[in-house]
Amino acid sequence: MSKLPKEPPSHEITPPALYTLRRRELLKNAALFAGTASAVGGGLVWLTGGQAGVADTAGRGAPGGSAAPPVDAPPLPEAAPTPVTSGRDPFVTDEARTAYEDIVSYNNYYELGLSKSEPAANAGRLRLRPWSVACEGEVKKPEVIDLDTLLRWFPLEERVYRMRCVEAWSMVIPWLGFPLAALLRRLDPTSRARYVQFTTLLDPAQLPGQRSDVLDWPYVEGLRIDEAMHPLTLLAVGLYGKSLLGQNGAPLRLVVPWKYGFKGCKSIVSIKLTERQPKTTWSQAAPDEYGFYANVNPAVDHPRWSQASERRIGELRRRRTLPFNGYAEEVAGLYSGMDLRENF
Ligand code: MTE
Repeated sequence: MSKLPKEPPSHEITPPALYTLRRRELLKNAALFAGTASAVGGGLVWLTGGQAGVADTAGRGAPGGSAAPPVDAPPLPEAAPTPVTSGRDPFVTDEARTAYEDIVSYNNYYELGLSKSEPAANAGRLRLRPWSVACEGEVKKPEVIDLDTLLRWFPLEERVYRMRCVEAWSMVIPWLGFPLAALLRRLDPTSRARYVQFTTLLDPAQLPGQRSDVLDWPYVEGLRIDEAMHPLTLLAVGLYGKSLLGQNGAPLRLVVPWKYGFKGCKSIVSIKLTERQPKTTWSQAAPDEYGFYANVNPAVDHPRWSQASERRIGELRRRRTLPFNGYAEEVAGLYSGMDLRENF
């Protein structure tokens, strides 16, 4: 691996896999997506032109414009009002929200393209209904559950979380979703269940990046069961009050706000409880760079990106990165006694 400067200017930041990609693979990938551009040309116009948000300077307020949800995703039920807590509320940060148009146009979703803008351009290929999730493994009540059934079972909540990518950029996103714990409780884990594994859809027709060997597909992520049961851990189906778009991991994606963004597995088709720690995509691809835990930690640098600070999308100045992405009060206890340098 060649050496890069420790912290390149943000416009030069290379997505993780690109770094390890050989030029040949890059070219192959470019060819793969070339065909897509014309096929979804109309979608691209819709995505870039239709989603001009009307968020104010602080990025607040509902996104406006004519952004339409994907044709095959029915509207979401209303979110339950977020319970008001006194003082600090970990579920709803009062930091300025990132503008909707940034959240839906600056993405990492390698199955839909390697650049930040390709996932939005290619997302029209994803068929969002019917969609079901196989809930399996070490549970007493395994079941393949239709997404709309999940939406009926679990009331939606709005959670305004910071999201910190290992590439040293961050956003504040008003997600809509339900706690993963609610689903896990219903599945009734066996006493052997120690981890939860999440798997993205495997279908190169819908996710053409899966025709390249940039990563081992399907994308797999995992959590320890206590992390999965933590009240902050969310299965998201929307953001800014709208259905998730393909580029953000529609119709169902994981959100774990104290971990680097790559833990947030997109377009989930399987949730499997396991006895053994799952082999996760990035930690398999580059074990020295991406650990299983991936807790945001300003004291442990990634080989290419200092993790001490971050660039909040929409802001000019860098800001300090906080341990556990600012959620230490809620989650540090999950790791007491663990060496977080070793378990990065
Ligand atoms: N899930 C899948 N299936 N494929 C991906 O490439 N990228 C991850 C994560 N989930 C990724 C994924 C990374 S690196 C990040 S930072 C977040 O998704 C980005 O989420 P966003 O595009 O909604 O901001």
